[in-house]
Amino acid sequence: MANLKALLLLALVLYCAMLAAVSQEKARSRERGEEEEEEEMEPWKTGKEAEERGRREKKEQEEQELRFLLKDARRVVSTEAGEMRVVRGYAGVAITEKPLHIGFITMEPRSLFIPQYLDSSLIIFLRRGEAKIGLIFKDELVERQLRAGDVYRLPAGSAFYIVNTGEGQRLHIICSIDLSEGLGFNSFQSFFIAGGANPTSVLAGFDPQTLSTAFNVSIDKLGEIMIGQQAGPIVYIDAHGPIIWSNFLKLKQQEKLQHLKRMVPVEVDNEEKQDQPKWSVSKLFNSLLLGEENQKGRDQKGERKAGPDPYNLYERSPDFINKYGWSLAVDHHDYSPLKKSDIGIYLVNLTAGSMMAPHVNPRASEYGIVLKGSGTIHIVYPNGTSALKAKLKEGSVFWVPRYFPFCQIAARSGPFEFFGFTTSSHRNRPQFLVGASSILKTMRGPELAVAFGVTEERLREIIDAQREAIILPSPAAAPPDERREGL
Ligand SMILES: *[C@@H]1O[C@H](CO)[C@@H](O)[C@H](O)[C@H]1NC(C)=O
Ligand SMILES: *[C@@H]1O[C@H](CO)[C@@H](O)[C@H](O)[C@H]1NC(C)=O
Ligand SMILES: *[C@@H]1O[C@H](CO)[C@@H](O)[C@H](O)[C@H]1NC(C)=O
Repeated sequence: MANLKALLLLALVLYCAMLAAVSQEKARSRERGEEEEEEEMEPWKTGKEAEERGRREKKEQEEQELRFLLKDARRVVSTEAGEMRVVRGYAGVAITEKPLHIGFITMEPRSLFIPQYLDSSLIIFLRRGEAKIGLIFKDELVERQLRAGDVYRLPAGSAFYIVNTGEGQRLHIICSIDLSEGLGFNSFQSFFIAGGANPTSVLAGFDPQTLSTAFNVSIDKLGEIMIGQQAGPIVYIDAHGPIIWSNFLKLKQQEKLQHLKRMVPVEVDNEEKQDQPKWSVSKLFNSLLLGEENQKGRDQKGERKAGPDPYNLYERSPDFINKYGWSLAVDHHDYSPLKKSDIGIYLVNLTAGSMMAPHVNPRASEYGIVLKGSGTIHIVYPNGTSALKAKLKEGSVFWVPRYFPFCQIAARSGPFEFFGFTTSSHRNRPQFLVGASSILKTMRGPELAVAFGVTEERLREIIDAQREAIILPSPAAAPPDERREGL
């Protein structure tokens, strides 16, 4: 054990050394680049060189964007009835911090995301529409009706399904996918409980004889459920969908539980056993063979356990509001299931042309998804150089590492709404660098004046000039309407 630790430590040290070498090399080449740039600024240089410089700058901008704007989107599910896209989080955070992926689920009216469990916990945010979530929670099937604005947690290893219950409405869900509990590096895995030809059920991994014994039905009969599903992970539940799932949904709650439990052996109890693996092949196997195993838990306890309720973001009053917008953050004090995932949630709405003042998250990295409108984001490296200055539009996904100063600015064309996850469920307490509630204002005094090399009076003039806090008016810094720019 100690050997293994030492080995891991060594590997980490080597990795860090490698990173340091690479970044030094980069810094050196950057310096060389800057010297060349200065030369090229001189007027006697030819147009061709200026062109070259322009190209290089463009390439650098693209590299920056690749780092902080998460564009690596993959369609992991695509069926007639819906789709799921996953935007992969920045792989570089894996060493020091848990990486998140961001999932986008779209489901057509009267569709079902068939029962499955994942090796990752999800925090889902129901952006539009209505849904019913079925979840095995402490040995019970909990069904929750969710509305727009609701947040809900689906723990790793818990079987769940999602039904679009909105009349004629498409369902839109955004979720965080926490890879820290995952099996593989930088991806997540679905285990479909149900399924058939497509998707393949985890049950298909057992030979027919074993399953037949486990289910106490004939192999022929079993065949019906093992190949029936062909429409993929998201299916319609009406007439043209497979019969079996519409039947499943008509079962009474108790029967559904039995049905699901026969398939998912391990009840998930995250409170007591958070660090233990939620499932294993042998447990799955045993439980299939000893179908009644799960019955015991309920008999002993007898009482009904209520599963967690969702939490609605749209009904919550903002933590901060002024003429220029509002913001709210939800941590585990507000909604306790977030504690188990150690994820926080926030929602910001800036009016046209307003700015979220430059700030720093001292405790967490931040992932953001633009819900509406457009704007820009500026991110600054710890050494005070610009890391990124980029336009954001609806659907953009960005990532801001812990400690990096940043700000967002709404375009003048309309309000700018963004939502996101922070990698800590503790109160985040962002530190503002500018504005009436900034740390500069709090630290104002002779020391700060000396530090800036100005008189106290001068410092006061500068720091007091901004009367607003947190969300600031910024017509000058706001990007113009995207359309007028021809983008
Ligand atoms: C600042 O840090 C970034 C990222 O580590 C690096 O790329 C850049 O070259 C640094 N700039 C200066 C002036 O040191
Ligand atoms: C299996 O099913 C038969 C009826 O088809 C029943 O008599 C028997 O008790 C069942 N066995 C188990 C272990 O449930
Ligand atoms: C954001 O603010 C705009 C007005 O500035 C408003 O129309 C919109 O409904 C707000 N969004 C949310 C989610 O409340």
